[in-house]
Amino acid sequence: SKRTKIKSLLRGEQVDVDVRVKGWVRTKRGNKSVSFIALNDGSCLANLQIVADPNNITEDILKRISTGACISAEGKLVASQGAGQKVELVASAIEVLGEADPESYPLQPKRHSLEFMREIAHLRPRSNTFGAIMRVRHAMIFAVHQFFNQKGFVNVHTPIITGSDAEGAGEMFRVTTLDQKNLPTTEDGEIDYKQDFFGKETNLTVSGQLEAELGAMALGEVYTFGPTFRAENSNTTRHLAEFWMIEPEVAFNDLEDNMDLAEDFLKFLAKYALDNCREDLEFLKDRALQEEKNLPADKKNEMNLIERLEFVANNDFQRLTYTEAIDILKNSKPNKKGRFQYKIEEWGADLQSEHERFLVEKHFKKPVILTDYPANIKAFYMRLNEDGKTVAAMDILFPGIGEIVGGSQREERYEVLVEKVKAMGIPEEHVWWYLDTRKFGTAPHAGFGLGFERLILFVTGMTNIRDVIPFPRFPGSAEF
Ligand code: 4AD
Ligand code: MG
Repeated sequence: SKRTKIKSLLRGEQVDVDVRVKGWVRTKRGNKSVSFIALNDGSCLANLQIVADPNNITEDILKRISTGACISAEGKLVASQGAGQKVELVASAIEVLGEADPESYPLQPKRHSLEFMREIAHLRPRSNTFGAIMRVRHAMIFAVHQFFNQKGFVNVHTPIITGSDAEGAGEMFRVTTLDQKNLPTTEDGEIDYKQDFFGKETNLTVSGQLEAELGAMALGEVYTFGPTFRAENSNTTRHLAEFWMIEPEVAFNDLEDNMDLAEDFLKFLAKYALDNCREDLEFLKDRALQEEKNLPADKKNEMNLIERLEFVANNDFQRLTYTEAIDILKNSKPNKKGRFQYKIEEWGADLQSEHERFLVEKHFKKPVILTDYPANIKAFYMRLNEDGKTVAAMDILFPGIGEIVGGSQREERYEVLVEKVKAMGIPEEHVWWYLDTRKFGTAPHAGFGLGFERLILFVTGMTNIRDVIPFPRFPGSAEF
């Protein structure tokens, strides 16, 4: 039968109407003469208060209602006498759809640790925090498509099973159809993985970029938004083995255009969150402040969650080259102890997250776009600069997150690219089709990848990437 979502009732636009709601009980309190049930149906953060008058609702039914139970309630929506809500439902009938044994239901109405919540990932969306995160995540998915659709980009689905290694970093999960008990061997007696996928060596994609480039060379402006997989054994608060990535790719764009697009995109997403997720963001802001209370002063954020989003939406990012960043790092005095300690690096070294955080959080105090990295610490497809030693790369660094975007202008010159592929030992049979685009109607083009979960970390103020995806995959986790 029909139900009304709690979100639309709580606006308080309608009173003295008959409604039916369905949802999960957050709390039940009361006395002999009346019970109050706080009901949540996931449509919004707030609960609907249900007043269960024992004249209508029998003791037998009330006994079966406890935290976690699923109920259907009907009655009259009335203006609430109590503080804290505009309306409440005076129930004339309640049906218990599913009980939740209070002895064993793990999600009690109290503050559980995030570690504990990860152990009950199957139930955690029923909490305020994870409900809010999931709604914000949805809003951001929608905003991504809206941004590119408005600009006339074409969304391309790129394959998940591939024969190539887009990043050339060798961090791939193998995909195999082989009988594990009867593996084929080569002449040397080694397992012959070349036969993995009906006779081809295959893996889960680490990035949709190479295929997106093919799209850009036909459709002009494209983007992908799909799952990507990295078999790196990283146990950090910023890495997942399975994460979602948005990868636009644009024909005729150079690095400058690429930076403009990425900056516009991130500003749009921050503004979209502020405009569309206010209730959840206010809750997450307070949650983060609560969490920060126990941190030493130098680890607290200078701005709260809402202020950080407003800052990103309204201020230009700092742009500088890798070489300029190394000079700044060398000429600054990192704190002897505390948050911004780092080892000074020589030109040519990859930047560690301490360096990134120093630049973003201490030196510039704003998002930073670093460009023109040394060629040999970046992927094979990045365009070689005139100096012959740097590439037209860009990384966007965010406060509290570090790298949120990685991208580049692509190497469109056939000879230069073939040389690079050879030098890096990439088998040509893995990338012949990619090289073909440089042979037939090549053009300058550029693109980038935004790590979706890193974006959600920024937008929700959460600090562990395992808490912003419904079912995190990391070394040792694959229960659900
Ligand atoms: O810097 P990455 O590896 O770049 C690429 O994959 C390019 N093909 C993108 C492109 O130019 N089209 O990854 C891009 C972004 C990073 O900046 C980071 O936000 C995120 O993806 N990322 C991860 N997020 C979660 N867990 C991981 N293990 C991640 N690795 C990268
Ligand atoms: Mg990167």
